[in-house]
Amino acid sequence: MSSPSSSIESVLVENRVFEPSAATVAAARISGMKAYDALCAEADKDPEAFWARLAREHLVWQKPFTQTLDASDKPFYKWFQDGQLNASANCLDRHMGTPVENKTAIVFEADDGAVTTVTYKELLAKVSQFANALKARGVKQGDRVVIYMPMTIEGVVAMQACARIGATHSVVFGGFSAKALQERIQDAGAVAVITANYQMRGGKELPLKAIVDEGIAMGGCESIKTVIVLQRTATACNMVDGRDITWTDAIAGQSTECPPAMVGAEHPLFVLYTSGSTGKPKGVQHSTGGFLLWARLTMLWTFDLKPEDLFWCTADIGWITGHTYVAYGPLAAGATQVVFEGVPTFPHAGRFWQMIEKHKVSIFYTAPTAIRSLIKAAEGDEKVHPKNWNLDSLRLLGSVGEPINPEAWMWYHRNVGHERCPIVDTFWQTETGGHVITPLPGATPLVPGSCTLPLPGIDAAIVDEAGNDVPNGAGGILVIKKPWPSMIRTIWGDPERFKKSYFPPELKGYYLAGDGAVRSADRGYFRITGRIDDVLNVSGHRMGTMEIESALVAKTDLVAEAAVVGRPDDLTGEAIVAFVVLKRSRPTGEEAKAIAKQLRDWVGKEIGPIAKPKDIRFGDNLPKTRSGKIMRRLLRAIAKGEAITQDVSTLENPAILDQLAENN
Ligand code: PRX
Repeated sequence: MSSPSSSIESVLVENRVFEPSAATVAAARISGMKAYDALCAEADKDPEAFWARLAREHLVWQKPFTQTLDASDKPFYKWFQDGQLNASANCLDRHMGTPVENKTAIVFEADDGAVTTVTYKELLAKVSQFANALKARGVKQGDRVVIYMPMTIEGVVAMQACARIGATHSVVFGGFSAKALQERIQDAGAVAVITANYQMRGGKELPLKAIVDEGIAMGGCESIKTVIVLQRTATACNMVDGRDITWTDAIAGQSTECPPAMVGAEHPLFVLYTSGSTGKPKGVQHSTGGFLLWARLTMLWTFDLKPEDLFWCTADIGWITGHTYVAYGPLAAGATQVVFEGVPTFPHAGRFWQMIEKHKVSIFYTAPTAIRSLIKAAEGDEKVHPKNWNLDSLRLLGSVGEPINPEAWMWYHRNVGHERCPIVDTFWQTETGGHVITPLPGATPLVPGSCTLPLPGIDAAIVDEAGNDVPNGAGGILVIKKPWPSMIRTIWGDPERFKKSYFPPELKGYYLAGDGAVRSADRGYFRITGRIDDVLNVSGHRMGTMEIESALVAKTDLVAEAAVVGRPDDLTGEAIVAFVVLKRSRPTGEEAKAIAKQLRDWVGKEIGPIAKPKDIRFGDNLPKTRSGKIMRRLLRAIAKGEAITQDVSTLENPAILDQLAENN
């Protein structure tokens, strides 16, 4: 297990409790802890009846399901299997003929501040028209489509349009490199890519289409028959004859009506690649019925969504948060939401607060990294402090993606929530599809730094290495004991890896989250202590250490060996530190700096800028046991600048520790 970060340690002494106000409780959908307990009791008593009731109440089924859970082939659980529905119909068509029809679905704010809005009815027309365009380009039900797009209304339209025709989308974050894109296209066997010529971020025009071209040109992407290019900016881009078409040309002449393809509840709605313990990212496959149920339900439970709310989740559609809480959840729940193209620091670090004021945002959902960087900015410059904007429209705040340190929580609570908005610290993962452990705003007393309690129906627990429950107060492995509808179905094309990664035999068939956690002795509240595998969390972005190591050693002319570890970082949560052995002698001084830069750029090309190591140390070799195993525990200590107090007698080459530490 990796050691907890310093920010986590400070939570150990956390004893502040924030009760929801009587007014919040009274207005809430799940009103008070008694209501929460009652739902948990219902779920405990008969889980299948509980989920069946919710699935019937919250989704529109073309063909109702008769079997709730099929557990005959564990851990390949199937939910609502014989039911049929369409995800896009459940987000759009369901609202037609209701007051939501003419409600604004998306308020889009571009990087430069320009605002465009679209109603539910208009969005349905756009999605249908683009769905017809996809069909006209030969995309069929069951095909995979890679989406490599900026945050735009069209990004959401592209995802919904795939869902509408029963194609499985795989969104790749716009910050990933050509190589990363190529690997995902290949693994998914995608037939089409939907992209934009450029994306605008922080006033800069960044290429997307050129990266798509580069990725496809790397080879092995023969499955791609068409590339649809949104003209996001005026700058021209390369278009390949016969393969590429602009968004405008693709939709020209297409009808704005397209009957939704009804698919089985288990039909893969999407595959989203995320990092694991090996060098190769895994395609997390989600279902249609179970995923959508949880996307809608958590909007109603965790965010206690009201018809008049203005919801803003700042996540990019390239991540799971942007899937569940931008592309699907808000629409399935009939919310009006803000979609933002830009970055929180452009043109100034008060942009988020300014946008909350401008659009009268009532629910604001962001990541601890963003909060920490905005705290730093506000402390350095009064002019970008949230106090300069009117934030009275806010009623609820959320946090996602990493542990939020109590200091950041308190700042968020005071300076953004004005001590009146509950903060929901939502713990979940790409694999869980939606929130699994989180406070409910009108019920749960809040403790800074704690994601508090599991949602009803989520049987989360902390166990030891044999799968036995540990008492409150003792740390252990976070598991979910029973299946739930929005859980990962498999790893695309690799069912064996799915079983091995998430359902190891020693854990009694429980779902292994990959995080360490501890429950408080008094309330039984969960606190996540960080990943227990080789996965890092940098600025809320999940990165595999092996993935970065593979990228480094792929620089075969220079690198002999590499080991990557995480180090706690005040701003980004964790920072990437790489220990590298070169094929030539160990560089020092300016030369070491130049080679480190070269390697950083290389990793940026291999994976994407988010994977660039913050710190690269060179050594003559790496600390290894006599059997050749790299001792990462020691490397983590060195990366943190800690003295080595552990027994190093099993090391093949103890002297290397001093060399790597010297480099500090
Ligand atoms: O380590 C946990 C951390 O993020 C991991 C999941 O990353 P990803 O699949 O990219 O999904 C991020 C968005 C849901 C988890 O294994 N994590 C996520 N939320 C929290 C968290 N750690 C602590 N507190 C959270 N609220």
